Amino acid sequence: MKRTAALLLAAASSLVAAGDSMEVPLAAAGDAQRGRDVFLQREQGHCVICHALSGMAPAGNVGPALDGVGGRLSAGQLRQRVVDITQVKPDAAMPAFRRSDGLNRVAAAYAGKSLLSAQQVEDVVAFLGSLK
Ligand code: HEC
Repeated sequence: MKRTAALLLAAASSLVAAGDSMEVPLAAAGDAQRGRDVFLQREQGHCVICHALSGMAPAGNVGPALDGVGGRLSAGQLRQRVVDITQVKPDAAMPAFRRSDGLNRVAAAYAGKSLLSAQQVEDVVAFLGSLK
C-alpha cells in the first residue's frame, strides 16, 4: 500500500519510531485512572465502542477483547498500537489515535487531526498496562 509506505518513511525520517514498539513516551508518565476515562468516554478515546473488557459495558466486538493485554504487550507495544496501529498492521480497522505528530512535515492534511492528546495516549497506555 502506497500510503503505508509513506507513513513508514515519514516515521523513519522523524523521531517517531516505526515498527512494533514505540519506546519513547510522548508526555509525562501516564495515569491509569485517567486512562480508564479515556478508554470509556465518548468524547475521548471511546475504545469500548470496539473493544470488550470484563466489567465494562457497553462493549464492542469489532476489536479483540483487551483483558490481560498488559501482560501480552509491553508499554512500547501498547503505545505503538494506540498511536498508529497501521504501523503494526496496515489494514487494521482501528483508527490511529495520534498519527499527526510524526507526519506534520510530510503530510499537512493530517496536522491537527489527532484524536487524543499526547498525555491522553500515555494515560491510556498506563491503563492498558495495568490490565494483567
Ligand atoms: C473502530 C474500532 C476500534 C476502536 C475505536 C479502537 N480499536 Fe483498538 N483495535 C481494533 C481492532 C479491529 C484491532 C485489531 C487490529 C487487527 O489486528 O486488525 C484493535 C487492536 C487493539 C490493540 C491490540 C490488541 C492485541 O491484543 O494485540 C490494542 C492495545 C487496542 N486496540 C487498544 C485500543 C484503545 C486503547 C482504543 C481507544 C483509544 C482503541 N483500541 C480503539 C478496533 C478498534
